[in-house]
Amino acid sequence: MIDPRALRLPAPPTSRNGIPRWCGALLAVALLASGSLASAQDAVRQRTAAIASANALATQAGFETLARGGNAVDAAIAVGTTLSVVQPEASGMGGGFLALIHDAATGKDTFIDAREMAPQAVDSKDYLKPDGTPNRDTSLNGPLAAGIPGFPAGVAYMSGKYGKLPLSVALQPAIRIAEQGFHPSGALVRSIGHKAEVLRRWPASSAKFMPDGKLPTADGLFRDPNQARTLQALAAKGADGFYKGAVARELVRAVHAAGGTWTLQDLASYRARERTPITLDYAGYKVVTAPPPSSGGVAVAEMLNILAPVDLSRLDQAHRIHWLVEAMRRAFRDHNEYLGDPDFVKIPMDMLLSPYYADGLRQSILPEQATKSAWLPSVSVNPPGMHTTHYSIVDADGNMVSMTATVNTTLGSSFVAGGTGILLNNEMDDFALVPGKPNAFGLLGGSANAPVGGKRMLSSMTPSFVIGKDRLAVIGSPGGSTIITQVFGAILAFIDGKSASEITAQKRIHHQFMPDRIDIEKGSDIPADVLAKLKAMGYELNQDDSWGNMNVVVWDKKTGTKTAASDPRNPSGLGKVETIH
Ligand code: DON
Repeated sequence: MIDPRALRLPAPPTSRNGIPRWCGALLAVALLASGSLASAQDAVRQRTAAIASANALATQAGFETLARGGNAVDAAIAVGTTLSVVQPEASGMGGGFLALIHDAATGKDTFIDAREMAPQAVDSKDYLKPDGTPNRDTSLNGPLAAGIPGFPAGVAYMSGKYGKLPLSVALQPAIRIAEQGFHPSGALVRSIGHKAEVLRRWPASSAKFMPDGKLPTADGLFRDPNQARTLQALAAKGADGFYKGAVARELVRAVHAAGGTWTLQDLASYRARERTPITLDYAGYKVVTAPPPSSGGVAVAEMLNILAPVDLSRLDQAHRIHWLVEAMRRAFRDHNEYLGDPDFVKIPMDMLLSPYYADGLRQSILPEQATKSAWLPSVSVNPPGMHTTHYSIVDADGNMVSMTATVNTTLGSSFVAGGTGILLNNEMDDFALVPGKPNAFGLLGGSANAPVGGKRMLSSMTPSFVIGKDRLAVIGSPGGSTIITQVFGAILAFIDGKSASEITAQKRIHHQFMPDRIDIEKGSDIPADVLAKLKAMGYELNQDDSWGNMNVVVWDKKTGTKTAASDPRNPSGLGKVETIH
């Protein structure tokens, strides 16, 4: 461990609230010393499960599935497919997901890549206007914006290999809610209002989201019989029920009728992939996180490796932010340069994840001054988004799932594919469609993330586990490129001893290389003198609206306590712990 003073860091030994950190530690030790408390909780330990998701109906669907004898994987499928019905603005059957699974019996962690892929006929010219400038409409709205969905193949794969129940059982809550109806959340009502003009372009989109030709209200009842039928086909035939046969033919027919290029072959050739997660050690914890085609795990690992020898607890708040932001800046620079679908591009993973590489990056950090992004090679830009969804689950046996699912921006492409009831994603925009031009999140990319038929677009989704000797956390969030810095901040907060609700509530800061500024969430408690100090170091500060929708489960193995917290920024969320009989 390098002494931070050797890095010439200022080192006042106070925490943010001025209370010496060891006071909290002593209190915790005193509480843990109470043996009776520990043994009472031991009794509970094996029988509780925790689920945090962005919608109460989805959290309940997960518990219903556990009560039927399912494990965390079955519960995640129930949560995810229910969200496809009740939170379609964020994720669903027409989109994709990335998930980490921990199997308690073998101790093995694995990663499911159900990311969308480009259809074979993808053509960059479709995303340009005649004058050669980017066509934001084709890249974000309608079927040209949609990648071949990965979600149905992903849940079928997870169910078959890691679930305990048949897929058809895990799909029951979603099918029932789609058939019987539900009251839309405020966020769904607002999303439909926001995208109404685009939704009105396609009859199936209007019929699904504005059933009487009117904007919905929160007290109305939403039914989704077409999606229920498509879910039934998946339940009856597995992935083939979606990627082959009647559903596939209707998807292709509807996409073609509206100017898209999908073929039956594109659908039939889609496969979910199982990959090896990224793992690293930081501050005595094992961090397990998402590999490519996510950029998130590589970026979080780079940030943590840069910070590894820096004792953050010795820093005042301005210098702590300085170090965090400089780590973010350097990781985001590499993001655009190197990362893409690992089946198509050779990514120098050994270099990017190496502590020696991080040593070099750390040495370029000026102790008292912001590095201008322009002083470093390469470019990128990116404001936060608010759609996509994350759920965290730990079951009574200790199996865990950390799953982030998306249709990309609000209500994806706004295009519902005919009679399937399936809202298609607009994930094609996550490719670097036009060289040198930013996507919806302001991200620029190079050839590593150029669109090619059959290739998966780069993602920021970063489902993660943080595993310590006595405590562990299941973490993730939506938010475009801010996902990466949210997960990074959440890992640090967890390691600092914060609870699940403190982790989800903590105010966020973000830097992504370009634009070269620190985004600070409004309502942040950073004092004026700290902000002034950061400005004096050369930072541009930007106060921003809130972002993210984090769902976290924390499991304290010593006390046997599981806690689940849903982001306080989202009133529809539910983080809950239940006893499983
Ligand atoms: O995979 C990605 O990185 C994006 N499609 C995620 C989009 C997102 O998080 C939207 N907003 N909150």
